[in-house]
Amino acid sequence: MKSYFVTGTDTGVGKTFFTAALASCLQKRGINVGVMKPVATGISSKTGFRSTDVSILHSAAKVNDLENEINPIFMPLPVSPYDASKILHLSFDKKVIFEQFTKLQKRHDMMLVEGIGGIMTPLTRDYFVSDLIKEIGLETIIVTRSTLGTLNHTMMTVNTCRNHGVSIKGIVVNNYDEKGGPEEKNSPLTIHEITGVDILGVLPFVKDCDSYETVMPYIEKNIDLQSLIS
Ligand SMILES: Nc1ncnc2c1ncn2[C@@H]1O[C@H](COP(=O)(O)OP(=O)(O)OP(=O)(O)O)[C@@H](O)[C@H]1O
Ligand SMILES: [Mg+2]
Repeated sequence: MKSYFVTGTDTGVGKTFFTAALASCLQKRGINVGVMKPVATGISSKTGFRSTDVSILHSAAKVNDLENEINPIFMPLPVSPYDASKILHLSFDKKVIFEQFTKLQKRHDMMLVEGIGGIMTPLTRDYFVSDLIKEIGLETIIVTRSTLGTLNHTMMTVNTCRNHGVSIKGIVVNNYDEKGGPEEKNSPLTIHEITGVDILGVLPFVKDCDSYETVMPYIEKNIDLQSLIS
């Protein structure tokens, strides 16, 4: 069974909601799916976990894994990991990511790993999310927006993956508003046309979307789960 690294064209595009909803759909199908957010930054949440993303992923996949296994690196500042490590004088030890990933991969049949920010988010001065995906050895799923500007961001993300030897499983177009303008309506088709990458599915903009669970019915309906599993 394959595992995936979920990246996005930007921060806030829906990586966590997509990953959590997908993990929950797979878990409901009886798949032993594990989750990971190797690097997180931000203000400590009140969820019992330092990072809100980690708490969402943990509860969606219904895993018993420890917080520091799912999220080996947390820096308590809402900035990029590289800035956080500079400001807080923390070192970035990528070894711990691979140690925990190897452990979790043995415990689960499939792993969904959420990145941080986008593909070129710096983890250190010269080590980027793209390098992490390559080193961890997973195919990536790119979450993108559907609104104006997405062609530029998606193309840059796809080209960066290709230039870094990161293999792309497909693209998920999130926050799609079918009543949107012509650019938005066409975006999934045009993204596929110009990148040649498969569109795994289009997830609509859901009004009052306050939980990944709101997105789950659209994952079931709009994404070919079997193609991700086999
Ligand atoms: N399909 C959707 N419809 C409506 N709102 C959505 C949808 N998907 C995500 N959102 C909203 O966008 C917000 C950001 O989504 P999410 O946290 O998944 O992004 P992210 O890419 O993981 O961000 P980060 O870079 O901080 O990890 C969510 O809090 C949610 O409210
Ligand atoms: Mg997130």
